[in-house]
Amino acid sequence: MTEYIEKACEQFRTLLEEQLARVENMEKGAEAKDFSKMETITVGLVGGDGIGPIIMKQAEAVVRKLLAEEIESGKIVLKTIDGLTIENRMALGQSVPADVLAEIKSCDVLLKGPTTTPKGGTMESANVTLRRELDLYANVRPVQVPAEGIDWMFYRENTEGEYVLGSKGVEVPGKLSMDFKVTTEPGTKRIARAAFEYAKAAGKTRVSVVTKANIMKKTDGNFSRIFHEVAADYPEIETDEWYIDIMTANLVNTKIRNQFQVFVLPNLYGDIITDEAAEIQGGVGTAGSANMGDQYAMFEAIHGSAPRMIEDGLGEYANPSSIFKAAEMMVRHIGLIDKADKLAAVLADSQENGPKVTGLADGAKGSELADYVIQRL
Ligand code: IPM
Ligand code: MG
Repeated sequence: MTEYIEKACEQFRTLLEEQLARVENMEKGAEAKDFSKMETITVGLVGGDGIGPIIMKQAEAVVRKLLAEEIESGKIVLKTIDGLTIENRMALGQSVPADVLAEIKSCDVLLKGPTTTPKGGTMESANVTLRRELDLYANVRPVQVPAEGIDWMFYRENTEGEYVLGSKGVEVPGKLSMDFKVTTEPGTKRIARAAFEYAKAAGKTRVSVVTKANIMKKTDGNFSRIFHEVAADYPEIETDEWYIDIMTANLVNTKIRNQFQVFVLPNLYGDIITDEAAEIQGGVGTAGSANMGDQYAMFEAIHGSAPRMIEDGLGEYANPSSIFKAAEMMVRHIGLIDKADKLAAVLADSQENGPKVTGLADGAKGSELADYVIQRL
């Protein structure tokens, strides 16, 4: 037993040192990339696994139509990046193979299909690796139900919390296992600031922080404190605070839910509640997700690679709406606002009047929806 304890203490020291080094790096800060000053913007297209390559092919066709002029003029360069598949990752024993990561880093923004995350073991999720390697600290997820007046924007912290050391827990076999959760001062400040800056720019009047600070006293307790410190710089914006359990209930409470506007949450709560929110919007297949950093941004569907759909032979019936929404967010992020608005309008119309994709063989195929969208661009 003492052997395990010794080993775990040694490991804990290393983890602490690594996390403190990360904090120091964040404290240095970095100037954010200004897309408006760039002559060429390289967009990486990453297929992923499961339904990923299928919906990404449809998304690529949409992007090629939407940005035909910019691609023609050389302003936008599309770069296909292969090799981020579960087979390749498992064979190499790398969550993101080194050559794939180098290619990804040569791009400015990415549109990425879902990647399969192995359960258990020590292989990190490709998403977690990419979010860390590219320092994509804000996971921004919009959810709208216009008929109900719901217009939510989630700012999920994306590089810390339960995720950062999720593959580095300790275990005494047959006895116990422990994982670690991390909240840092600069990491929390930057996600809170991103949410308030969004609220200010978008004319929002309320930002809600969601934690479990009554139980996770250090990590969530500090997340909450730092949130309120940042909030002091935005006196015109009202704030409130909720625990995650009651917030999951609030989202299904039709009497109050449309009063929420912007949410700020630690990583895991943000992961969970945004799937719930997406379901309220019409299903996880309808929601896009932006992973934003100061140097890179990665846009993807909110959901996973749906291996069950592939096993059941239903890949062609997967809903590409989520990745189309992600493409819209990407186009907006690189400053092509008119083009993003155009795609947004076509996507809204396609939800109302387009082929109905249900994810089952009785629904339309994803390619039919893609054709509908492309024809209207
Ligand atoms: C998401 C996904 C990922 C996450 C998985 C695929 C690692 O669920 O983007 O929400 O847990 O963050
Ligand atoms: Mg998720």
